[in-house]
Amino acid sequence: AALTQRRPSTARASRDLARAVECKSQFKVALLGAAGGIGQPLALLLKMNRYVSDLSLYDIVNVPGVAADLSHCNTPTQVKAFNGKESLEAALEGADLVVIPAGVPRKPGMTRDDLFNTNASIVQGLIEAAAKVCPKAILNIITNPVNSTVPITAETLKAAGVYDPKRVLGVSTLDVVRANTFVAEAKGLNVKDVDVPVVGGHAGITILPLLSQTQPKVNFSEDEVAKLTDRIQNAGTEVVEAKAGAGSATLSMAYAAARMAESVLAGLSGIEEVLGLGELSASEKSGLEKLKPELKKSIDTGIKFAKSK
Ligand code: NAI
Repeated sequence: AALTQRRPSTARASRDLARAVECKSQFKVALLGAAGGIGQPLALLLKMNRYVSDLSLYDIVNVPGVAADLSHCNTPTQVKAFNGKESLEAALEGADLVVIPAGVPRKPGMTRDDLFNTNASIVQGLIEAAAKVCPKAILNIITNPVNSTVPITAETLKAAGVYDPKRVLGVSTLDVVRANTFVAEAKGLNVKDVDVPVVGGHAGITILPLLSQTQPKVNFSEDEVAKLTDRIQNAGTEVVEAKAGAGSATLSMAYAAARMAESVLAGLSGIEEVLGLGELSASEKSGLEKLKPELKKSIDTGIKFAKSK
């Protein structure tokens, strides 16, 4: 009504509307593992995100430097440092979204499951605190093995009596980001236009790209499907080997996690849609059947760990 009374130009009206929407979309994000290889570039991307009004950076070491550095960027997001275990609960206070890249990454020759022993306890400890301080927050789990850390998260929240499956999300967006890039390269498309859904989990054959649903519509030969699927499933190892002992994907992961965070915050601002799997090709149907027992094994390992604690 206020806009009509002032009779602004269409451009100004839409600018005002955009600003009004922005004002309603101010969220607090807690980033746990903020001083790490993923944490630092992800903190920068979140500091640049229009939905984020407050950014809490938590790690067991090195947060003051990261936060001081980041706080000099002239964007409106307020950055606060939380260094050391005793500040974990304060970091989570009032969080709408908690993003977790805390934990050790792979070295050459390792599978994501090799990280289980260290990372399972780290994730469980962080989730216990989140269950207590911000039980309604959306949780984005980046820490590997995602196929097991997500069930650990679910079981920990169940034990605390605050589990809501819609709020627990394993971050496999990097598989989508990679699929879009590789398909655009292979087919000579503008990468900005390409969208390839990827379903399943986040390790080996549990990563299932649905190439038949690629947008814009493209045709792939059987050989192309096999090669692209294999590359998307093993792209993480490409990075681990290229880094030769210095860790796994950090920059592309930060980009993917920022994209995921943006989608979650857009969702919290009122956009909601739950999508099904859509129509699958014969090879995708067979891939889905093959991944289920593999994924179930990782889920069971996570559940067993959480229940033994
Ligand atoms: P990093 O070693 O560079 O950083 C990890 C950070 O976690 C460090 O700053 C460390 O101090 C912190 N940390 C350790 N224990 C903690 C605790 N209890 N509380 C808070 N912070 C703690 O590792 P990077 O490269 O950032 O990777 C982090 C995780 O992300 C790894 O588990 C890695 O496998 C995973 N990852 C997941 C991907 C995905 O697609 N979901 C892709 C790439 C990596």
